[in-house]
Amino acid sequence: MSTHPALPARNQRPWWRDAVTYQIYIRSFADSNGDGKGDVEGIRSRLPYLRSLGVDAIWITPWYPSPQNDHGYDVSDYMNIEPDYGTLADAERLIKETHDHGMKLLVDIVPNHSSDQHVWFQQALAAAPGSPERDRYIFREGKGANGELPPNNWQAVFGGSAWHRITEADGKLGQWYLHLFAVEQPDFNWENQEIHEHFEEVLKFWLDRGVDGFRIDVAHGMVKAPGLPDVVAADPKAEMLAPENRPFWDQDGVHEIYRKWRKILDSYPGDRMAVAEAWVSPASRIARYLRPDELANSFNFDFLSSPWEPAELKKMINRSMDALAEVGAPSSWVFNNHDVVRSVDRFDLGLLAGNANTTLERHGDAKKFDIARGTRRARAGALLMLALPGGAYIYQGEELALPEARDIPEDRLTDPRWEMSLRTDRGRDGCRVPLPWTSLPIGAFGFSSDANREPEHAWLPQGDHWGKFSVEGQDGDPASTLTMYRQALAIRKSEAGLGDGAMTWIDAGDDVIAFSRPGNFACLLNFGAAIELPAGSEVLLSSNPLVGNVIPTDTAVWVRLSVG
Ligand code: GLC
Ligand code: CA
Repeated sequence: MSTHPALPARNQRPWWRDAVTYQIYIRSFADSNGDGKGDVEGIRSRLPYLRSLGVDAIWITPWYPSPQNDHGYDVSDYMNIEPDYGTLADAERLIKETHDHGMKLLVDIVPNHSSDQHVWFQQALAAAPGSPERDRYIFREGKGANGELPPNNWQAVFGGSAWHRITEADGKLGQWYLHLFAVEQPDFNWENQEIHEHFEEVLKFWLDRGVDGFRIDVAHGMVKAPGLPDVVAADPKAEMLAPENRPFWDQDGVHEIYRKWRKILDSYPGDRMAVAEAWVSPASRIARYLRPDELANSFNFDFLSSPWEPAELKKMINRSMDALAEVGAPSSWVFNNHDVVRSVDRFDLGLLAGNANTTLERHGDAKKFDIARGTRRARAGALLMLALPGGAYIYQGEELALPEARDIPEDRLTDPRWEMSLRTDRGRDGCRVPLPWTSLPIGAFGFSSDANREPEHAWLPQGDHWGKFSVEGQDGDPASTLTMYRQALAIRKSEAGLGDGAMTWIDAGDDVIAFSRPGNFACLLNFGAAIELPAGSEVLLSSNPLVGNVIPTDTAVWVRLSVG
């Protein structure tokens, strides 16, 4: 296994090589003013919880003014805070207090597209074809005798054509604009220097306010192939994880942007960083975003498309680590985020797969769902992830083994994917239901400061069973998933050999993934029939109770190997 020969000791290298970062989906984390939506003050009130969990950093999903067609990923002003979520002063206080608690803070930046309510897009609509206002976005004439056909065959990620025809100032149908996501999310034209300048200003605006870095939304999407050529494929439907190269994903031009951004990040004190959301494969393409003069991290989404199967997982881990070692970058493991079905449900189905385009319905019969098995596997997977070299991103609720909410009534679904797929894909609301903080339903299980707010009247309805997974119910319970995460993160801090650095595979049979880390630390994940612990080893942590010396199926253990 390749390692980084020149890697300095953990306290001497940039924090982002080792960090465990907690993703906060702001709308669903904590509601401080009782309106049923999470907010900045809600996050601030829960900083002690995050600190006690033991994470190194938090990443907050878009908190900017937004009409919320895609819950903040449709930004109308990049240098302010959504009034529903608070004020700029609240955000500044949160940044400061996060630092006081010894944690870093990342904000989400959305450079591929804005909201259609952004002043620039409104100006573009009002201006004439060919004007500088139109040039900030991607407007084209349609095809066909009267321009009635879209300019090319690109499909939106959420379904349907990626082009929308507008009505011009004279009241006639006119040009089309590109939106790779929702209709309300027009793509910026990154051929236009003004866009570059604007985003450089946005980066500095937040860096000046003390943020430690950025999560870059659709980081592989900003630059489109010259001439906007048709997708050449039997099925032109744009899948987020499509293996074929698309004329709108992963174009070489994006790397020039990141080289410029890196210079801005490096011009600030402290290890400011950026992490790419780039759904590209294979791993060698991801590594290109992590070249020494580009970004620090890129989510490693490979876990999301591997089966719950040791040989495949091991192959995937080797492939990613080898590709990243080529550029000297750490891995950034991910099992969950706000776009994918929660791991408790995915793993039960034997699939880690669950990208943004994947619904449970496509993966199996929901009635056969075995939550006990899903939870067992999710916990085992977490210990695997937290023992592997590099950093990890965990998504709010993952530490509670929160399952996917499958019972949201159709009339409460809010993801644009639902309508854009012509109601064939329920979308991503099921992993975005507000967190249960207390076991009793008062105040939507403690999510809301309004004690009278009922669980079904949080912005997305919480089911009656939600309290079973609450922080309150798990706090201090030695068997809970929350306790396991706290213990794992504490061990990760005290074991100098964890985080980035060397690992060595251990052969423990075909049904087991096992490897050691410096300090005689080892992680074993057993997928098959019960096996024995390595002779003489001391158990530091296990994802499920061991039976004497025996590791049951779907269980991971962290051990200290006996020396000699
Ligand atoms: C990213 C976000 C997703 C959003 C999309 C469009 O994939 O994670 O939630 O819908 O970009 O901004
Ligand atoms: Ca609120």
